[in-house]
Amino acid sequence: MKRIHTLGLLFTAFAVACTSVQEQVEETTIAPPDPHSFSRPDITAVSHLDLNLNVDFNGQQLSGTATWTLAPEHGDELILDTYELLLEHVQVDGQDVAYTLGKKDAILGEALIIPLQKDSKQVSIAYKTTPGARALQWLEPGQTAGKQLPFLFTQSQAILARTWLPCQDSPGVRYSYNATIQVPEGMLALMSATNPQEKNADGRYTFTMEIPIPSYLMALSVGDIAFKAVSERTGVYAEPAMLEKAAWEFAEMEEMVVQAEALYGPYIWGRYDVLVLPPSFPFGGMENPRLTFATPTVITGDRSLTSLIAHELAHSWSGNLVTNATWNDFWLNEGFTTYFEMRIMEAVYGRDYSEMIASISHQDMVADITELMAEDSLVTSLKMNMAGTDPDDGVGAVAYDKGYHFLRLCEETVGRERWDGFLSSHFSGNKFKSMTTEAFLQQLKEELLSAEEWQAIGVDNWVYGYGIPANCPVPSSDRFAKVDALRIKMLEAMANGHAPNRLAGTADWTTHEWVHFIRGLENPGLEQLMKFDNAFLFSQTTNAEIMAAWMQPAIRAGYTANDFEQHAADFLISVGRRKFLTPTYRAMLESGKRDWALAIYAQARPNYHAVSRETMDDLLNYEESES
Ligand code: BES
Ligand code: ZN
Repeated sequence: MKRIHTLGLLFTAFAVACTSVQEQVEETTIAPPDPHSFSRPDITAVSHLDLNLNVDFNGQQLSGTATWTLAPEHGDELILDTYELLLEHVQVDGQDVAYTLGKKDAILGEALIIPLQKDSKQVSIAYKTTPGARALQWLEPGQTAGKQLPFLFTQSQAILARTWLPCQDSPGVRYSYNATIQVPEGMLALMSATNPQEKNADGRYTFTMEIPIPSYLMALSVGDIAFKAVSERTGVYAEPAMLEKAAWEFAEMEEMVVQAEALYGPYIWGRYDVLVLPPSFPFGGMENPRLTFATPTVITGDRSLTSLIAHELAHSWSGNLVTNATWNDFWLNEGFTTYFEMRIMEAVYGRDYSEMIASISHQDMVADITELMAEDSLVTSLKMNMAGTDPDDGVGAVAYDKGYHFLRLCEETVGRERWDGFLSSHFSGNKFKSMTTEAFLQQLKEELLSAEEWQAIGVDNWVYGYGIPANCPVPSSDRFAKVDALRIKMLEAMANGHAPNRLAGTADWTTHEWVHFIRGLENPGLEQLMKFDNAFLFSQTTNAEIMAAWMQPAIRAGYTANDFEQHAADFLISVGRRKFLTPTYRAMLESGKRDWALAIYAQARPNYHAVSRETMDDLLNYEESES
């Protein structure tokens, strides 16, 4: 999905019109322009937001005002990003002004250009969202667990905040905010801010986020939501039907925060809570400050997918404190966070546990990068070039898993003591700043690596080169080695006419072991699939990770026993997490089952958030008229 647009030209025009040569030089050396935002914080930046919104479930619309306080020393215009917002009026310090809208770009939306006076202080925009607002998912009561009330949640990363808020939608622009949100009576509203713990009578909620955050961390959710404390500073929000299970699943949150702080310094955000969303949430988790948004598919009843919490918590340092300057530096957010996630998991559950997750990361990296190398090797370098494309297309194993392995190699090269000291000062020394890949490398050179170490790691090749470098660390998991041994034994037994036995050493397996077990079956035939299915009930599993792994060989082999096809359809219709949808629909396409995929998709599509829907529309070549 590569789309061309005219942003480059626009930037040149702006640069000539609005900045001196000196400023242009500074811009390229210090803060590179963000190719995914029209805003020009170098001309005028915002410093605070007062947001006042009404949530209308019947009209599926947010409406109200966003009032921006300007940073001192601003220029003669403020430029905000918008995407199909209905603007009612724009005021500067209480006076209506004539604003202009830039040319619409399919990916970026429209620039909202507001003229300023030298002494202008505040800009206020009265607006409404439109039904197409891609950050928002409005769920009907029937799409929730409780079935009684509707539900709303936002997903702003990477560039969707502008579909529900006129803002400088660039990760390099931070601001504090206060918000007042009016929702229907009987519902709770939550944001990436100080949050209520119970519903109130009038449905009017106020929020503050005093620490400045970038727009991609703006978040709102409204629904029949209840709260349960896990520890003094951590807790879980969920629909009442999910609450107890969710709180049990995430009981180790406090320990994770404690270990994370011991690793890389204080958690500065106050509370750390998790909101468990309905299953259509398109991601595993989203690191909205103070309130991680999470998929319910990690609630397995055995606490075996809590690394997701470790990951989103880790973003409280990598991403939310030190932030990628543009989406081209996305690996700084996700690679660091994946590394930090593994360290938290190691500290809380032990190395033999964290090495399972690291091995899965290695498998994902090899699979993804091998495929990308065949298609377009340019997209396999850590530093990306996403200008002209949707940054959402850059989400994959490169930033996460190649990023992780690079940082792990740095750790292994210099030893933990030096590395941890370096990372701690990286987070404390750069807090509230945005970081480019180049600034990070400079820091790495000046503060950590000797010339020999730099050479030995091959830093430039890791960051700017393609594929998987030859010196990539390979995680080694004893627990996975046991899985491999048992799989061989079972296959031998099956070759001799015996059925695989559930009691043969799998009783204490976690999700990771099962996923590894299934991934290691090489093109199993129908009979083998059935024997495993009869022994381990894969087709009926309620564990989404295991189901997603199982659907790969089963779909490709054309497996139909044990109601597999019905279970697969039910899964795709109820779960909207893109990480599961993409490989599953792809397996259908690659094994000649496009009709089946489309039949399911026609039913499932109304349940998907725009982020997943757009990816699946592309994958399946779906035209709305097909349904
Ligand atoms: N920030 C990401 C999710 C994201 C990335 C949303 C880019 C939009 C654009 C989040 O922290 C994340 O990485 N989620 C993963 C969790 C997993 C790696 C534990 C996911 O959703 O699968
Ligand atoms: Zn992440």
